Amino acid sequence: MSLYWIGDKMARRKMLYEGKAKILYEGPEPGTIVQYFKDDATAFNAEKRSVIDGKGVLNNRLSEFFMTGLANIGVPTHFIRRLNMREQLCRSAEIVPLEVIVRNFAAGSMSKRLGIEEGTQLPRPIVEFSYKDDNLGDPLVPEEYIIAFGWATQQELDDIIAIALRVNDYMSGVMHGVGIKLIDFKIEIGRVWEGDFQRLIVADEISPDSCRLWDNETGQKLDKDVFRRDLGNLADAYSEVARRLGVMPNKPGNGSKPTLVN
Ligand code: TMP
Ligand code: ASP
Repeated sequence: MSLYWIGDKMARRKMLYEGKAKILYEGPEPGTIVQYFKDDATAFNAEKRSVIDGKGVLNNRLSEFFMTGLANIGVPTHFIRRLNMREQLCRSAEIVPLEVIVRNFAAGSMSKRLGIEEGTQLPRPIVEFSYKDDNLGDPLVPEEYIIAFGWATQQELDDIIAIALRVNDYMSGVMHGVGIKLIDFKIEIGRVWEGDFQRLIVADEISPDSCRLWDNETGQKLDKDVFRRDLGNLADAYSEVARRLGVMPNKPGNGSKPTLVN
């Protein structure tokens, strides 16, 4: 249990799950959760860790921005509303145990596996799946495994690919508008029930933690690779993304009071 404020009332709430970068609490109404963004950064399955002052505040705002934009073009997401600097109210969903990755340019594990130079444009966007299991290091899996092991049905998988490509179009366009190339990203998909119907929504978060973002002109990295590869200050990179998108002009953190743009 932890304490939190609703208006001027203090309430207790139940922690449902603590992950590497977020904590999920039971929400105020059935079917809702509160997603709390921590400042913790991890990489290489948490072999490397650090606390980056202000990262949680930035990712809360950036994920709100992207999820709201997706909802506006008809892509359903779990996001309901932001509660405060670090928390958002979301629909609770059953998470499909897959990391859904879309790649526009080769980088990271694809470059390593196939020997393709980072930044090489791919012939078309490529969707791939990793099985979500930290003990196994989230292994890349073929679609056949997903169906055979029942992690998703064929129909769901078709829908997931369609959603992933729509998210890619949206994210690529938004980023292009602010001079950033969307190299690749990861999303997670949840199942929600509406009466007798089940549908899929974008869940978890969309932030520079789960994307690769390169400046169009300079190629400067503005994503978690800054932390993974020790390329500089991670919060500065995320602040730059937020600033360009008009989300949050000042870098949040100790002492500095962030200004919210509404
Ligand atoms: P990869 O090149 O390491 O496979 O990563 C592909 C994309 O997925 C990249 O944008 C980073 C993101 N990603 C996550 O969000 N979480 C993870 O655990 C991993 C390995 C990658
Ligand atoms: N999120 C994973 C971890 O914490 C991997 C990564 O993003 O590099 O270890």
